[in-house]
Amino acid sequence: MKSDPSDTKKLADTINPLENGLDRAKLPSHVAIIMDGNGRWAQKKLLNRVMGHEKGADTVRMVVRSCREIGISFLTLYAFSTENWQRPKTEVAALMSLLKKFLVSERQEMVVNNIRFNVIGERERLPQAVQDEIQRTRDATKTNTGMCLSLALSYGGRAELVKAVKEVAASVRDGRLSLDAITPETVARHLYTSDMPDPELLIRTSGEMRISNFLLWQIAYAEIYVTNTLWPDFSREELIQILKDYQGRDRRFGRV
Ligand code: FPP
Repeated sequence: MKSDPSDTKKLADTINPLENGLDRAKLPSHVAIIMDGNGRWAQKKLLNRVMGHEKGADTVRMVVRSCREIGISFLTLYAFSTENWQRPKTEVAALMSLLKKFLVSERQEMVVNNIRFNVIGERERLPQAVQDEIQRTRDATKTNTGMCLSLALSYGGRAELVKAVKEVAASVRDGRLSLDAITPETVARHLYTSDMPDPELLIRTSGEMRISNFLLWQIAYAEIYVTNTLWPDFSREELIQILKDYQGRDRRFGRV
């Protein structure tokens, strides 16, 4: 029987963690990424910043596919921060339109590949058309049991903590919770990430040594990897190399 060339491609695209020198038992369950450097990538090529974001969206597709194939359970991508609203109106509009395009074009692939789609951040601040596509994608993928892909949109770590503090304070005020019963778990239950493990690995592209208000509470013990590669140039090979680096680290959590 003649083999279907698309099947061969699918097989070739599948990453076997062992073949890549990755130890399946030591993979991080949650990888978070600060995708940075789209603007600089475009500037270096004398292109408009928006073209950097467009190329960055292609990298998002590649990273989502690769993480799923490698066997990562949770992938969280910082796609738009609360601070990003201060960018020029045209750039914000271009980012929102790219986001909408991404949700429409990737929805079916997420359904087929068992990916559950999630958003963390102030969804209500996003344009209605983007909110609608988010809802459609969440609905279409809600029963999926594979990798959970979260996009951080209009997300800020401090705003998330303020929201949690207000909710906990309201429970105390209403007599549903005593002050002494508040633990770190109480706070974690009020974060957008309440149903996820904390990220074990945080990757940042484009060389900046900053956290930029991303998952402030959740990265308490995350291993951090900063690469100089600009996000549009980030590759599957580099992702695997970073995962290997992570597997070689000694995680002590404050112990000796
Ligand atoms: C940083 O580049 C990146 C962002 C502001 C947002 C990330 C957006 C994308 C990867 C594209 C669209 C996303 C999806 C999910 C389809 P920068 O503009 O801060 O780069 P610079 O620091 O070099 O100026």
